[in-house]
Amino acid sequence: MYAVLRSPGQIVFGRGQRHRIPALVAQRGTRAFIVVDPFLSAAPVVRDLREGLAAAGVASEVFDQVVPELPVSAIATAARAAAAFGADVFVAVGGGSSIDTAKMAAVLAAHGGEVSDYYGEGNVPGPVPPIIAAPTTAGTGSEVTPVAVITDPVRESKVGVSSPHLIPAVAVLDPELTLSCPPGVTAASGADALCHAIESYTAAKGDPEATASARVFMGSTALTDLLGLEAVRRIAAGLVRAYRAPDDLEARSLTLYGSLLAGLAFGTAGTAGAHALQYPVGAVTHTPHGVGVGLLLPYVMAVNAPARQAELAHIALALGAAPADEADLALQAPRLVQELMSDLDIPTSLADLDFPRERLAWAAEEGLKAKRLADNNPVPLTAESALRILEAAYDGSLTTLLAPIGGTR
Ligand SMILES: NC(=O)c1ccc[n+]([C@@H]2O[C@H](COP(=O)([O-])OP(=O)(O)OC[C@H]3O[C@@H](n4cnc5c(N)ncnc54)[C@H](O)[C@@H]3O)[C@@H](O)[C@H]2O)c1
Ligand SMILES: [Fe+2]
Repeated sequence: MYAVLRSPGQIVFGRGQRHRIPALVAQRGTRAFIVVDPFLSAAPVVRDLREGLAAAGVASEVFDQVVPELPVSAIATAARAAAAFGADVFVAVGGGSSIDTAKMAAVLAAHGGEVSDYYGEGNVPGPVPPIIAAPTTAGTGSEVTPVAVITDPVRESKVGVSSPHLIPAVAVLDPELTLSCPPGVTAASGADALCHAIESYTAAKGDPEATASARVFMGSTALTDLLGLEAVRRIAAGLVRAYRAPDDLEARSLTLYGSLLAGLAFGTAGTAGAHALQYPVGAVTHTPHGVGVGLLLPYVMAVNAPARQAELAHIALALGAAPADEADLALQAPRLVQELMSDLDIPTSLADLDFPRERLAWAAEEGLKAKRLADNNPVPLTAESALRILEAAYDGSLTTLLAPIGGTR
């Protein structure tokens, strides 16, 4: 057996736990740069946080100019403000875009240079000031992961900065912070979380011969499997409920807890094909990350089915399938995910997203450029398999992918 897990030093989950943030910050610094999601700028949450920090002897400054999907220019503005303030601790309260802004501002504050100096894996040279992250979506899992995802206007696709130094020191997850998520954000961020869970659980197997520090994303291991599958169960129990009834705190809790587990799983294991192919799809259609990965995931699962029959059978059961033969369950899994996406009103075909058919071959090639993701797929993506996935996704037809391996439903 082989197991590796990297995570924040402390994770706190539960209703009302945001009130612990000032004390957690005060243990780590005296000048807190608070990155808050614009939807929270004038909210009592921020006022309470600042009052709590002041009472704990911590000076604070608020930055609320976060831009969704994170263009590089927004990071530079945040980093300059943090440096001018002399921040020694960062607090992020918001969606993935806000948490990733805080991560990159902390990197620039510690090491200088430009955002593009850190693109790729393992290019952050050393520790950054402690980050305390409290997500308001469920979610990217960014509160526990070693990555920030950025839009660079000189590149067509998004780009990642990944390094263990980006893992927040503390993650505080308070499901009450997610109650205000509008249904579209609940759906897209929840689809992303489910995708993290499934892609990490079915990822290429971690290699015990490689040293634990050699790669940021190292494939699935026993610990990431445990978390990934449990994440599918929790998200399946909560997500559609939270989408339909935004005030349902129990559904919000289940979904946020699921996204936390999924973040822990993929923060070590990594994601795979659906994440690789979302980059070009998002670049062309300007759709949120979660919509693209949610749409693509069933098609990627269908191609992976022969290599991951047992895992897909477990996923089908976690999604509520009745017990059946393993091969049958494995073939049901992609359809069950697609049904869940439909329940969230996430489009099921690239044609529905107005993706131009003539750019499918380009998208296949572009997706493969995210090499670490393409290689982390259980069967490494090739130009041929990537195009097959995208063509089926364009037509909205899982049957074309499943029929050759025995799926007739
Ligand atoms: N770092 C990681 O590990 C990681 C993983 C996956 C995705 N990402 C990246 O994260 C970003 C997406 O993050 P996201 O899905 O959390 O969305 P987001 O942070 O982009 O937020 C989407 C919108 O929802 C609003 N919002 C957020 N929380 C809200 C709430 N509780 N109530 C009302 N409005 C709210 C935001 O203001 C914004 O307008 C993308 O850039 C994606 O590439 C990062
Ligand atoms: Fe994601």
